[in-house]
Amino acid sequence: MSSNQTFTVHVNGAQPRASTNSLTGAPPSRIGSTEDAAAASADPSKRNRDAGRLRVALLVSIDRNAPPAPQGAPYDILAELDSEKTAYSYAAALLSRGYDVQAHEGNVHLPEWLAAWQPDICFNVCEGFVGESREAQVPGILEMMGLRYTGPGPLAAAITQDKPTTQRILHYHGIRIPLFQVFESPDDTPRADFAYPLFVKPAHEGTGMGIRNTSIVRNERQLRDQVAWTIESYRQPALVESYIDGKDITCGLVGNGNDVHFFPITEVDFSAYPPELEPIYGVQQKLDYADCYRNKCPAPLGDKLTAEVRRLTHQVFKVTGCRDYGRVDFRLTDDGKLYVLEINSLPGITPHSDLTLMAEAEGWTHADLVCAVLDAALKRYGMAEFSPVAVLNGSRAA
Ligand SMILES: Nc1ncnc2c1ncn2[C@@H]1O[C@H](COP(=O)(O)OP(=O)(O)OP(=O)(O)O)[C@@H](O)[C@H]1O
Ligand SMILES: [Mg+2]
Repeated sequence: MSSNQTFTVHVNGAQPRASTNSLTGAPPSRIGSTEDAAAASADPSKRNRDAGRLRVALLVSIDRNAPPAPQGAPYDILAELDSEKTAYSYAAALLSRGYDVQAHEGNVHLPEWLAAWQPDICFNVCEGFVGESREAQVPGILEMMGLRYTGPGPLAAAITQDKPTTQRILHYHGIRIPLFQVFESPDDTPRADFAYPLFVKPAHEGTGMGIRNTSIVRNERQLRDQVAWTIESYRQPALVESYIDGKDITCGLVGNGNDVHFFPITEVDFSAYPPELEPIYGVQQKLDYADCYRNKCPAPLGDKLTAEVRRLTHQVFKVTGCRDYGRVDFRLTDDGKLYVLEINSLPGITPHSDLTLMAEAEGWTHADLVCAVLDAALKRYGMAEFSPVAVLNGSRAA
């Protein structure tokens, strides 16, 4: 990455100089440039650190840093990753609260960089590039290094990355989920109580990856074809569920324990998508036809159902061990039954993500949302005096 870019995410473990960000909220000229690295010292005592400011390490998985996709990989293979522009929006939010922010890619060089810069807390939004527990990789490093960080630990990240594992836990807790079965091969025998239509998706992906019209299967031939395509394209088992005909509902929160804030619940409105697309919130709706996205926020559910969606969201958040923020996706049938589809323990918080739109629906800015996540983590670590709110109000000792 060249150092003349306006924003750079550090990728090679080398140390930047102390950041030059001001308390004015003005964006930095660059963050953690590789040019600075050569001049910087790995000895924290020698660095020109602004001791009064909280050091926040922004940890990101940037699409352009991803390893080359395997031959024949589907077009949505990088859909979970952030662009540099998005990473900048996170940095800008944190900088606007006056923190000392540096950014690094969530790669093998991260431990070296963290050991040298010694952040007070990490803002981790790393999706990871490869592996069935890719979202758990950076939390694992941070846990091993004894560092503080936002979002799920490695256990919750791995559990929630894997939809079948999540479903087993929810089932244990009596939470309604679709009937499901994991297919390791297209030749597996479908469970006897399955009734078509069924729904096929990759076992551990997100952002609608591998979810398209053909995910709805109406007979055994379609089932076997879709399972075969899913396993081959995404190199992982296929999760087959009963197809729940109903509305797409999603509910987000920030906070921990009983100190949580629920955002207005969203219902996806499928009316503006091309008619040939099935009413499912898959990759075509999320990426190809993003401009056709419409929603009802708050969803017109009435008080009782709204309370139930929130109660379930909170329960799913707690039993899967999530932290700081989360978003639970449901299907709601015409006869009022709620089915949990999944929890996103690292929900998208780009300026265009569902969670951001929910927050904006009640007057928050994107920066408010990013800072609320950091705030939740700081409170969890007993560091409320560094919370963005305290910093903004000037209540923190300089
Ligand atoms: N069992 C099901 N029955 C009906 N529709 C389903 C089912 N599972 C998934 N869907 C549809 O596919 C969409 C995406 O499913 P899911 O939330 O599991 O995928 P994801 O890629 O993890 O999503 P996200 O973008 O939230 O990470 C749902 O919002 C819903 O429209
Ligand atoms: Mg989802």
